[in-house]
Amino acid sequence: ATFGDQEVIRGEGGETHQVAGGDVPVLTTQQGIPVSDDQNSLRIGYRGPTALEDFHFREKIFHFDHERIPERVVHARGFGVHGYFETTDSLSDITRADLFQRAGEKTPVFVRFSTVAGNKGSPDLARDVRGFAVKFYTQEGNWDLVGNNIPVFFIQDAIKFPDLIHAAKQEPDRGFPQAQTAHDNFWDFISLSPESMHMALWIMSDRTIPRSFRFMEGFGVHTFRFVNAEGKSTFVKFHWKPKLGMQSVVWNEALKINGADPDFHRRDLWNAIQAGDYPEWELGVQLFDQDFAEKFDFDVIDSTKLIPEELVPVRIVGRMVLDRTVDNFFAETEQVAFCTQNIVPGIDFTNDPLLQGRNFSYLDTQLKRLGSPNFTYLPINAPKRPVNHFQQDGHMAMVNPKGRANYEPNSWGGAAGGPREAPDIGFKSYPAEEQGAKLRIRAETFSDHYSQARQFYISQTPVEQTHIADAFIFELSKVKTPAIRSRMVSHLMNVDDELADKVITGLRLEQKPKPADAARPTRKDLPA
Ligand code: HEM
Repeated sequence: ATFGDQEVIRGEGGETHQVAGGDVPVLTTQQGIPVSDDQNSLRIGYRGPTALEDFHFREKIFHFDHERIPERVVHARGFGVHGYFETTDSLSDITRADLFQRAGEKTPVFVRFSTVAGNKGSPDLARDVRGFAVKFYTQEGNWDLVGNNIPVFFIQDAIKFPDLIHAAKQEPDRGFPQAQTAHDNFWDFISLSPESMHMALWIMSDRTIPRSFRFMEGFGVHTFRFVNAEGKSTFVKFHWKPKLGMQSVVWNEALKINGADPDFHRRDLWNAIQAGDYPEWELGVQLFDQDFAEKFDFDVIDSTKLIPEELVPVRIVGRMVLDRTVDNFFAETEQVAFCTQNIVPGIDFTNDPLLQGRNFSYLDTQLKRLGSPNFTYLPINAPKRPVNHFQQDGHMAMVNPKGRANYEPNSWGGAAGGPREAPDIGFKSYPAEEQGAKLRIRAETFSDHYSQARQFYISQTPVEQTHIADAFIFELSKVKTPAIRSRMVSHLMNVDDELADKVITGLRLEQKPKPADAARPTRKDLPA
């Protein structure tokens, strides 16, 4: 018999055997041994026990048993696709980063969009921030711009990240909710963290229920540095602007879509790319220098603040087109490892305490998630330029140094001596001046938590403002502890009276709380 163009033989128990031949390759074990029968384990007699020597059976089950790796501790649910970035406007006067030198130059990219709080199997349309992580495979190594679809963040210091995420994910004693912000622990933490008010306004806006990944903006969030060939530094904020414009669903639609199609966002992107309808974003930069930075009321290294576009317009310098779905979801989307510390010559960090913490966290978690310090050799993570170094061994070592030299300096000249330093073209950190006492205290410049929240709210259209108020009412109505609701409202009173009144009415609060204490701390306790 045949099935499609495949010859089918029935076994003695009626089971289906499909046989290799012609173009159809031979099934083998991992050791390359040809397999004669993949339908029956090796048994003693027709109805006897399975023989321990059945290496094919044991290898197959052993490998299956180990298929799962830990999901990402955050951003577990994601969808990755390939594409390219094209520089449209050379930035050679501002940065020596190779990918920004020549207009028209294309750099391959891999992009993973994600939700933050939900587990790997959670629905796509949860109200949540979306990750927007881009790996640029540049000619001078990989640069990862690990951003979100919102330009600011919840916290100012990375030491609060475990608390934020613990509070946002399932409550530990009950294992729910899976993928929603609507619960006591989350709002308890937010209401006790005034620094999160700006972000709280953004997450209650329509931005957290996007119509599709294709209709979202992206942001690098932190202030980074560009450094040019002369060593001059310019601060930069990165923006992705979708060519299709921004669109969101409304909450009522989000709830229905989650039920009808929890894969709504990944299906949308996959369908669009398969149909040749390639989504495109412009890359924009906001550029400013130290003198300009000092004129702002807030600190440019505080990730709860944005740089108003009226003050520093976004300059478009490139475009990104996503035109290829993955061949294998696990190999690419699951095994990709983005990391904020992956930067290239011409780009550098600032002292943003959130960025400094992220630089430790990603590599550390990926060692656990991917299981070996050699995950950089996985094709999705490997740079597309030659890689030469003396690192060796470890689990799954795939490319050890060739020959005698596995250290330097060494006396073995030429190729035998291995790779050498490149003082002219190699990465050099920007020599920022640093000094000061060791302190566990936030700068006063980080202390205004309400002004930008207010600016965001009043920049919204009346319909969008209604959605924000409705979202607060919905979310806080799920909070069982009255004190947490009131505390949240006490912050909203510092943001906008009308918004606070709407929420008070919506929640039927009997007593109007007092506004939260918005006084800025003084520096009198600090050492001189
Ligand atoms: C993962 C963005 C803050 C730790 C991610 C991902 C994105 C992202 C997009 C998913 C990467 C992927 O698709 O594989 C951001 C942004 C932040 C932020 C924009 C703030 C501006 C932090 C902080 C920490 C942190 C403060 C810790 C101190 C992690 C970890 C992962 C992750 C551990 C999982 C990485 C992995 O398993 O591969 N983040 N994040 N993030 N983030 Fe963040």
